Amino acid sequence: MRRLEGKNAIITGAGRGLGKAFVKAFAMEGCSIWAITRSDREEFREYITGLEEEYDITIENVIADLASEDSIKNAYKHINSQKKSIDILINNAGIAHMGLFQLTKMEFVKQLYMVNVIAPMIFSQLVMRNMSRQQSGRIVNVASTAAEEVYEGNAVYGSSKAALVAFTKSFAAETMKYGVTVNAIAPGLINTDMSKVFEGSDPKEPIRHTALGRKIEPSEIADVVINMLSDDMNIINGTVITINGGHK
Ligand SMILES: NC(=O)c1ccc[n+]([C@@H]2O[C@H](COP(=O)([O-])OP(=O)(O)OC[C@H]3O[C@@H](n4cnc5c(N)ncnc54)[C@H](OP(=O)(O)O)[C@@H]3O)[C@@H](O)[C@H]2O)c1
Repeated sequence: MRRLEGKNAIITGAGRGLGKAFVKAFAMEGCSIWAITRSDREEFREYITGLEEEYDITIENVIADLASEDSIKNAYKHINSQKKSIDILINNAGIAHMGLFQLTKMEFVKQLYMVNVIAPMIFSQLVMRNMSRQQSGRIVNVASTAAEEVYEGNAVYGSSKAALVAFTKSFAAETMKYGVTVNAIAPGLINTDMSKVFEGSDPKEPIRHTALGRKIEPSEIADVVINMLSDDMNIINGTVITINGGHK
């Protein structure tokens, strides 16, 4: 029995890295997907067509720039017009940053906050209309262990992920009465393009502080999220699941 059989999910940042791993893992579990990407790429279209054929689900590539509120709303309008249930929202897209706050342009800070914090809030508010009507739904926000870490260079990215965590916890307090849960995951270093931003000049430095001693594979994160979405986890709400293999 596939664990997400017949469900429909919106996944942002679906074109590469962790989002792409979510798309595959969800498809394998029988979930149909609106895969949100910023651009239209032939290679990704071929990838999702392969998954559709292999796992007998549908995956639609919806294009949206999450730095634009209008673009997010248009994507939702398109999805909502299909009159399917929206069972799951994975707010995965994100922008990394590592650098001194004093030297960071406010234009960039605003863009990062738009993608890392405001876009998940807009999407959550929009899908909540569907989920409250359905009396069921799952929202998972991809935060980071950086939300709790203190180091030079983490002021912008870390604070954006801390905001996402705080949003998750308080929004979850509103949604439970509608049968909707809102949780976050806080991964450590994942083996994607983004992790290079955090490595700096010494790639071993960030993993030195983990008991795991290596980066986490995107598929390992996706496995945890699939488990979080199973029916017997519906009591888990407003929590942050740290996925880093343990601190050292
Ligand atoms: N990698 C890590 O070590 C790590 C650790 C903890 C948490 N995380 C979090 O995990 C999530 C996924 O990260 P990742 O590692 O997969 O990073 P990634 O490989 O850099 O992917 C980031 C994704 O976000 C999308 N995105 C960025 N700006 C966007 C915009 N304006 N509109 C639409 N999409 C946009 C990117 O789309 P494009 O392909 O168009 O650029 C890409 O699909 C992020 O929220 C990140 O903060 C990552």
